[in-house]
Amino acid sequence: MRALVLGKGGREHALCWSLAAGGADVFVMPGSGGIATVADTVAGDPLQTPQVLDAVRRLQVDLVVPGPEEPLVRGIAEDLRAQGIPVFGPDRQGAQIEASKAYAKTLMRAAGIPTAAASLCQDFGEVEQTLAVHPDRTVVKADGLAAGKGVIVAEDASGARRAARRLLGQYKSVLLEERLQGPEVSLIAICRGRDYRLLPFARDHKRLLSGDLGPNTGGMGAFAPVLDTSITAEECAERTIAPLLRLLDDRGMPYTGALYAGLILTERGPMVLEYNVRFGDPETEVLLPAISGSILPWLAGAAAGRLPAESPEVRRHALGVVLAASGYPEDPETGGMIDGIEAAQAGGALIFHAGTLKTEDGLWQVAGGRVLCVVGVGEAPQHARDRAYAATGTIRFPGAQWRDDIGQNRDR
Ligand code: AMP
Ligand code: GLY
Repeated sequence: MRALVLGKGGREHALCWSLAAGGADVFVMPGSGGIATVADTVAGDPLQTPQVLDAVRRLQVDLVVPGPEEPLVRGIAEDLRAQGIPVFGPDRQGAQIEASKAYAKTLMRAAGIPTAAASLCQDFGEVEQTLAVHPDRTVVKADGLAAGKGVIVAEDASGARRAARRLLGQYKSVLLEERLQGPEVSLIAICRGRDYRLLPFARDHKRLLSGDLGPNTGGMGAFAPVLDTSITAEECAERTIAPLLRLLDDRGMPYTGALYAGLILTERGPMVLEYNVRFGDPETEVLLPAISGSILPWLAGAAAGRLPAESPEVRRHALGVVLAASGYPEDPETGGMIDGIEAAQAGGALIFHAGTLKTEDGLWQVAGGRVLCVVGVGEAPQHARDRAYAATGTIRFPGAQWRDDIGQNRDR
């Protein structure tokens, strides 16, 4: 099997690592110096279908795995499938489930999937009207791709008004959503048509600062499996994944790829906050080390039309700490030199590169907002956590930010 992963972040590094462990020859476009230890990097832009097609033909690739959402939203999966190339990812229309929160809400309503009540507002007048009737709709969401940064959880209606005014300056509409309470989990299904297999629950930590303070980010750390939940992943998927896959299939849009449900487990049961049409980042960096063996049979099986009979087996606990650049998420500062990566690896941690650059003399430099995801693996949650934090403590770069409480806020 020759697999081409599209992307260059920590999630793509973890995907390449897992596919290579399954015996695949792995290529990555554009990849990075950090990912080059597990995959051959291929120059090119994953958003340019002709460049991807050219690489697929030249390298005789038999599986394409787009990592981020942008190539999917632009239609890379259907363009490649039209050429007979197996792809693990949804068509352009399926990718709208992530690209438009309003579209996702419409589908959830049609499929009877539990989700927060919400109103779509095109202008500030509509925001005022909504809050007058529903003062509890204080979660403000940009209707468009915003890399996890277009959601503001306001404390009250006046905070929601301020947030909506700001987002309406940047996006054409916003969603005002009822604020839900309960622990959050990420559930990722590997899908083909109506059929799916599940990865265990993972928990992302989206706020920048320890104690769940500060702004939302792309994710500052994660762990898996999450065991102390009020519902199993299988039961949850029956309510939140299966009905959506059935609806899409019935409408002639069978879904292939990862379907990620961001959930709050409320007293009324699981409620969907959002869907993503790809693997989560940093969830993937902990889910793939936690399962037994490689993810390859599931991705290749889905792309070829037949999933393995069982879901991946969960074997270990994994916990990942994201090291972010100074100024992240607003204005990350790049260019600082990173020390201690090799020492952390020698101590047994898995290091997934999210935003690094390898200099000509083999040193590592900060090159993005999220820089590294440092993952510890162990038989018990505490082992995974201790290993991850021991390794994190050996890595240094100017202004590095990380949370010291990944895996601790279990009651949230
Ligand atoms: P999203 O990008 O929609 O997953 O939202 C980002 C984060 O904002 C989530 O991980 C939650 O922590 C929070 N959030 C989003 N929607 C709600 C909601 N309706 N109630 C409470 N918190 C929410
Ligand atoms: N970790 C959140 C996401 O991938 O969207």
